[in-house]
Amino acid sequence: MSNTAKLTLEGKEYELPVVVGSENEKAIDITRLRAQTGYITLDTGYMNTGATRSAITYLDGEQGILRYRGIPIEDLAEKSTFVETSYLLLHGELPTQEQWKRFSNLLTYHSMIHEDMIRFFDGYPATAHPMAILSSMVCSLSAYYPESLNVFENMDMQSTRLLSKLRTIAAFSYKKSVGQPMMYPQNHLSYCANFLHMMFATPAERYEPDPDMVRALNILLILHADHEQNCSTSTVRLVGSSQANLFASVSAGICALWGPLHGGANQAVIEMLEEMQQTKLSCKEFVSQVKDKKAKVRLMGFGHRVYKNYDPRAKILKQMAQVILNKKGVNDPMLQLAQELEEAALSDPFFIERKLYPNVDFYSGLLYKAMGIPVNMFTVMFAIGRLPGWIAQCKEMMEDPENKIGRPRQIYTGPTERHYTALADRK
Ligand code: CMC
Repeated sequence: MSNTAKLTLEGKEYELPVVVGSENEKAIDITRLRAQTGYITLDTGYMNTGATRSAITYLDGEQGILRYRGIPIEDLAEKSTFVETSYLLLHGELPTQEQWKRFSNLLTYHSMIHEDMIRFFDGYPATAHPMAILSSMVCSLSAYYPESLNVFENMDMQSTRLLSKLRTIAAFSYKKSVGQPMMYPQNHLSYCANFLHMMFATPAERYEPDPDMVRALNILLILHADHEQNCSTSTVRLVGSSQANLFASVSAGICALWGPLHGGANQAVIEMLEEMQQTKLSCKEFVSQVKDKKAKVRLMGFGHRVYKNYDPRAKILKQMAQVILNKKGVNDPMLQLAQELEEAALSDPFFIERKLYPNVDFYSGLLYKAMGIPVNMFTVMFAIGRLPGWIAQCKEMMEDPENKIGRPRQIYTGPTERHYTALADRK
């Protein structure tokens, strides 16, 4: 097969190199297209633009395949922990026992945040969305670790600090919102158990994290840990490409994740289901509303830019929601409603033709709800899960000798040159 593509423009023929990935993914390298032809490519929303070569995550949206560093997501969800999966994403291999112990210890001993930063929480109103607090606190970490400003040094230490402290900041922002005292991390607890402790313990009573919930949280975070060049990861890479520090880049990623079309969808799903319950709208009626484009209603937790098949993460979460709720003896009518809504959508030609399936956000909220995590914290949970992916992608970019500042081009459609008129002459 030829390793070049031929392009004819204005009667002239050009050869463009073809790049093939390890899973036989193919791309036409257009890096020199403008220099050779004067043309750029136009691809609004980056529907078809490869922004980088990456060895971290493989995703086949047609087949519903997701692998971190070659290992299927199903395998990791069943057998791994979030800490081990984070190591895999960051370092490319599963850790040896020695490496695991060291990494785990580092995460344990960097979990506190500077006492001065705790006062920041007092400055926020009780109604503040925890994503607003999370993004600004993460950016503020760079003020406390000035050595982080040199992005080419101490990357591993900054990564460890961030991985460990994000869950502390997240839990403290929750405590602030409910007016309870902040619970400091406990070194004898595992990563996920420690988070649940900081969220739900109070000085008034003993709290033992439930092992089923600790396992469920590990799985949820593993499933969110990376998803190649999505909106927030591309944001982290774009900000990091200017050599901004890791905390600033990740803070920008948190803001990108917040939107309801991305990580904010998990909150939007529960709000949608709640509204259906309150208004007693049937699944069929809701699906009809969604199909009416004028109504501007989307079925949240459905559809994906890349998956044109069932999202493998949603498959795991759907099963897990049932198992966890059964185990807890909880009969959540919202789970049944979600299942009925999925069925109604998947049997409707509108969804079939557009290949719209449940995505990771459709069932995750039901699990967070079962854990007692409030709805406005759901996207924060997504951020905690996605963090190792953001860091691994940023690190990969920094270590790439061919890395360049991200700077897309545009096709200008505004007015051509015209002259300034004085204010007095303007009508
Ligand atoms: N409900 C109803 N219609 C939909 C939906 C949906 N959830 N998703 C896509 N469509 C329709 C859309 O109207 C369009 O129809 P038409 O071709 O007639 O104009 C077609 O499907 C293609 O949609 P699109 O918006 O052009 O596709 P996209 O790739 O730009 O958007 C998406 C992907 C995820 C933003 C979109 O599917 C969506 O808005 N879903 C709901 C929000 C959501 O669940 N987001 C979480 C994504 S997964 C977690 C993450 O990684 O962020």
